[in-house]
Amino acid sequence: MRVLVSGGAGYIGSHTVVQLVAAGHEVVIVDNFANSKPSVVNRLEALTGEHLPVHAFDLRDHDKTELLFANEHIDAVIHFAGLKAVGESVELPLEYYENNLGTTFSLVRAMQRHGVDKLVFSSSATVYGLDQEAATEDRPTSATNPYGWTKVMQEQILRDVAVANPAMRFALLRYFNPVGAHVSGTIGEDPQGIPNNLVPYIAQVAVGRREYLSVYGDDYPTRDGTGERDYIHVEDLAAGHLAALTRLGTMDEPVGVWNLGTGRSTSVLEMLHAFERAVGHELPHRVVGRRAGDVAVSYADPHKANAELGWATTRSVDDMCVDTWRWQQANPNGFPD
Ligand code: NAD
Ligand code: WQD
Repeated sequence: MRVLVSGGAGYIGSHTVVQLVAAGHEVVIVDNFANSKPSVVNRLEALTGEHLPVHAFDLRDHDKTELLFANEHIDAVIHFAGLKAVGESVELPLEYYENNLGTTFSLVRAMQRHGVDKLVFSSSATVYGLDQEAATEDRPTSATNPYGWTKVMQEQILRDVAVANPAMRFALLRYFNPVGAHVSGTIGEDPQGIPNNLVPYIAQVAVGRREYLSVYGDDYPTRDGTGERDYIHVEDLAAGHLAALTRLGTMDEPVGVWNLGTGRSTSVLEMLHAFERAVGHELPHRVVGRRAGDVAVSYADPHKANAELGWATTRSVDDMCVDTWRWQQANPNGFPD
């Protein structure tokens, strides 16, 4: 297939591009580099050995999106583009609603006009709201911040479009906590500014960019008192997109919803210790107060994806840390400007 990857220069998109090309698909990238750098594409071309067409524009621009679909043959879309920082979304709600919903409107409009009927969408475990333990796909959706609401809303918009256009097929993939990097160490997560997420923060402590990890609370009702999450290796996550793309071709129902997680939870301290094993020495940390809005425990029930997509995770928490560390060591300041 010829697959348009929106947000293909971003963290999860870039890893998925490599797997798409390896599986024999052709890739077209659209990204405005709002949260990524053009040099990612050079790394992707080196890894895949292919020239990758890149359209650098804001997907909210309907005219440019229309022109892209008019000029490129496209069989399917994987839609990663969006803003994703929970805290920032509380400060900038309109930007989040505009960007995340606007990119989806442009893409789906152009798909309809050009007869493109398959889309894989980046949803999130955040749509389970506060109800995050052993989450199954049939749970009611909810959110606790504007970012989360954009995911709930985009899921609903796609369901409504599917009702109005019965030929369309949508995969809503609810990711848990993606971490890790490509085994080459040439692509990985490159947060701009202070990392919001645990593993990128630990990686920057390990490489000397940050002094110590702040552990947000050790008084949760969990194994060791720190928050537990379902961390999924980005390579397993990328493989889930290829499985979903295949599934869209044979699906009777218009919308499929799948959790992409391991089904296991790891605490903050367990993750810190796994990273220390990867690095080979202890890393400084301090326990501080809880972070507002955090739940104690979040993990997926991935059985539906295992059964229906023929997909399962294969990589351990230690793999996630070893691969993150290889990437961070080789690129202490992330991708070049
Ligand atoms: P990312 O920020 O690394 O990648 C997103 C990409 O989209 C970036 O390259 C950015 O420049 C691009 N983009 C943003 N707005 C755009 C616009 N208007 N037009 C064109 N390009 C635009 O994020 P990621 O971690 O790779 O996440 C990808 C998707 O997965 C997002 O939709 C995110 O909400 C979702 N998701 C991420 C996580 C996570 O923890 N990383 C978890 C669940 C869901
Ligand atoms: C994990 C654990 C923290 C940083 C977020 C979004 C979610 C999804 C994935 C997109 C928690 C603790 C963290 C630190 C810490 N994104 N922590 N010190 O909050 O589960 O999920 O990213 O959809 O929507 O909310 O991930 O990596 O921020 O936190 O102690 O410096 O690590 O309290 O227990 P989270 P995270």
